[in-house]
Formats: sequence, structure tokens, C-alpha cells
Amino acid sequence: MSPAPTSAIALRRASAADLAAIMDLERTGFAAPEQWSEASWRGELEGTDRIVLVAAVPAGSSTTGAASAEAARPDDAPHGLLGVITYQVGPDTADLMRVVVAPAARGRRVGRALVQAGMMYVRGRGVERVLLEVRHDNAPAIALYTGCGFSTLATRTNYYGPGADALVMSAPVETDLPSFHLPQTKGTRHD
Ligand SMILES: CC(C)(COP(=O)(O)OP(=O)(O)OC[C@H]1O[C@@H](n2cnc3c(N)ncnc32)[C@H](O)[C@@H]1OP(=O)(O)O)[C@@H](O)C(=O)NCCC(=O)NCCS
Repeated sequence: MSPAPTSAIALRRASAADLAAIMDLERTGFAAPEQWSEASWRGELEGTDRIVLVAAVPAGSSTTGAASAEAARPDDAPHGLLGVITYQVGPDTADLMRVVVAPAARGRRVGRALVQAGMMYVRGRGVERVLLEVRHDNAPAIALYTGCGFSTLATRTNYYGPGADALVMSAPVETDLPSFHLPQTKGTRHD
């Protein structure tokens, strides 16, 4: 059997129509006690101070944003999406709240593409620095963030429970980044 065709990934703003696929990603990304609820994700999608981006396998002309990840195959996104990221955007800083990539698509720079697209997007909102918290033992996430320019500012002991510290990481939003304005997706309440 010949391998599945490959293509670049498509990035776009998320909409309420993505909620079910985002919940599928959430369940593949985190153990049950750490999973966000559907109400939490709905809040991300509806929040005016949130930027939620999704990565998908492009479907012909519906591609709305190119990304520099490695090629994606339809099989990488059995639930419809390759990944999702959400930022809370303030006047000067933004918080990277969550990023999840489908297990079959990991290690192929989808996460990096989502983080970088988000950085370009928040730059368009005037943000100068992005902050996040990550479990000290989440090596893939720490590798992703470090590769995207984040460094550790502090440790919050037992932040996620006994023995589960949080690293507080921060990255400047590079001023030479282009401001990235993904097209509005029908149905989303973001500006
Ligand atoms: C963390 C996560 C989003 C990374 O997504 P990904 O698409 O696999 O990451 P990428 O392929 O873009 O890799 C980015 C960098 O991290 C490194 N990396 C990714 N996974 C890694 C792993 N398991 N071990 C070591 N390094 C890893 C890559 O080598 C790459 O480094 P490089 O830029 O120097 O080449 C993904 O593992 C995931 O969804 N995890 C579950 C959810 C989660 O923990 N989210 C973070 C907390 S909200």
C-alpha cells in the first residue's frame, strides 16, 4: 500500500464548531484528573481575551494559514484536528494556557508551529512577553517551550499537587516577528 499523501498543516482561529474535536484532543493529552472540562474549553473559545488556534490537515482551498511544521497526513488527525493552543491576552503580556497535539502528530513540529503562530498573533495585539506554567516533569512540553525561546523564571513548589512543581517560563515576543492575523473563522466570537 502506498503511503498516505502529505501536505503542510493549516492553522486557523478556532470556533465553537471545533469544541468536540478539541475535547477529543484534550482526552488524548492529559490524564483524567488534569483534563479541562468542556465548559472550560467553551470559555476559551468564547472569551474575548482569548486567542485559540487550531492546526489541521489542509483540505484544498479551505487552508487559511500556512505553518512551517513538517508535513501532516490525514491519519495524524483521527479526531479532526492535529492540535490546539490557547492564549489569554492582556495589555502587555499573554499567558500560554494550553497546547495539545494529537499523539500521532507529535514530534513533527506541530506544537512549535502552534506556539509560534500564537506568538505572532499576540504580537499583533501589542503583547511584549508571554508567560506560562508547566509541570516540572513534562519533558516534551519543556522541550517545546525552550525551543521556542522560553526560559524558566521561577518554580512554584507543589503547584499541581504534592511533589508536582510548576516551572514558570517566559519568552519575549520578538519585535522582528511579523504580526500574524489569521482570518476570522465564521462563528467565533474573537475580534
Ligand atoms: C507538548 C506537546 C504539545 C509537544 O507537541 P509536538 O508537536 O510533539 O512538539 P514539536 O514536534 O513541535 O517539538 C518541539 C520541540 O520539542 C521537542 N520535543 C517534542 N517532544 C519531545 C519529547 N517527547 N522528548 C524530548 N523532546 C521533545 C522536539 O524535539 C522539538 O525540539 P526542536 O525544536 O529543538 O526540534 C505534545 O507532546 C503534547 O500534546 N503533549 C500532551 C499535552 C501537554 O502536555 N501539553 C503541554 C502542557 S499544556
